[in-house]
Amino acid sequence: MKIAIVEDDINMRKSLEIALGDYDDFEVKTFRNAKEALKKLDESYDLVISDITMPGMNGIEFVEELNGRYDVIIITGNATLGRAIESIRLGVSDFLTKPFEVETLVEAIRRSQKVQARVKKRVKKDVPTNNSMFYGTSEALEKTLNLAYKAAKSDASILLLGESGVGKELFAKTIHNNSPRKDKPFVAINMAAIPENLIESELFGFEKGAFTDAFEAKMGKFEAANGGTLFLDEIAEMPFHLQAKLLRALQEKVIYRLGSTKGVSVDVRIVAATNADIKTKMQNQEFREDLYYRIATIPIHIPPLRERKDEIIPIAQKCLEDIVEKYDFNPKAFSEEAKEKMIEYHWPGNIRELIAVVERAAILSDGDTISENDLFLDARI
Ligand SMILES: Nc1ncnc2c1ncn2[C@@H]1O[C@H](COP(=O)(O)OP(=O)(O)OP(=O)(O)O)[C@@H](O)[C@H]1O
Ligand SMILES: [Mg+2]
Repeated sequence: MKIAIVEDDINMRKSLEIALGDYDDFEVKTFRNAKEALKKLDESYDLVISDITMPGMNGIEFVEELNGRYDVIIITGNATLGRAIESIRLGVSDFLTKPFEVETLVEAIRRSQKVQARVKKRVKKDVPTNNSMFYGTSEALEKTLNLAYKAAKSDASILLLGESGVGKELFAKTIHNNSPRKDKPFVAINMAAIPENLIESELFGFEKGAFTDAFEAKMGKFEAANGGTLFLDEIAEMPFHLQAKLLRALQEKVIYRLGSTKGVSVDVRIVAATNADIKTKMQNQEFREDLYYRIATIPIHIPPLRERKDEIIPIAQKCLEDIVEKYDFNPKAFSEEAKEKMIEYHWPGNIRELIAVVERAAILSDGDTISENDLFLDARI
């Protein structure tokens, strides 16, 4: 197993290199920072172990850049809940807090190895994932869904508020699918995922020659969503100078492609989402109040999973069935202790975290029962 260790602290780096060097089946390469690692990482690597706090590019940005190409274990000296949640969102497989025993790290490496071996051996079946389906129900979810269905029928702008992984995107699609616009496009744009200088052209499009690389004209998301729904994800991350332009487009229902003075009429329904404290951003003058009121005609708070406990087991069981089918495993079930553990846990990464934990447990468990130890919830923050 070829392992890349990315760690700026020389002592930590050397001691990990020496400790892991004792294992014959590990080939360890170390890097002082993320930039250096990015230059050298290729297909021969099986696993990346990275620190978070590093000069230059930090560990979270680094993992984002890796974009799921490697299994990643995070080791960090100052674990915060926010970082743990961010790591879950990025699909990191383990998150260890320094100081840790070498054995703990080796166990995490072995888990990664086992997951990779089992997943590789199996021919993954192309099982359609129920993207637009809610796997469980609870009083809190029903209340929220009812509000969403009602709001869907109108053409009012909806702002979805909720923690990471609660299902904001799922709600946005549900709203679209239950609206009179359901046969028209649903187009999503994530403000946090696009480089700041590209957001404007992504939203509004551009004409040929509008800037150096504009070799031909391109339609923006507004035009692509015409007649349908435009989902503005992570809206609080929108650069301040673009907020006025967005507001104008929403008010006038006309957009201008970059490099053009000719307006194009657009008819879109706006659904926006944020997990940030947008009210604080408004107080700090980082988010325009007029834009807020324009997009938040109907605000919908999606409760976190810990307030929807009745959904935990149904979601876990449905996910388990999906995974068993996907990898052609023999049927598996959760032990009673495992169920209790899942119900008790606080799920900072919400449904996304639950799905990831179940998938890993299903792959790692040897028999037909998934025990509480297979869930590895104790090690979490
Ligand atoms: N009730 C549910 N039943 C089954 N799957 C769900 C449910 N809610 C969410 N999911 C799934 O959980 C994952 C996370 O949901 P989604 O992407 O909608 O969350 P989000 O709130 O947009 O998260 P983020 O803030 O991190 O962008 C997705 O794979 C989604 O399909
Ligand atoms: Mg989302």
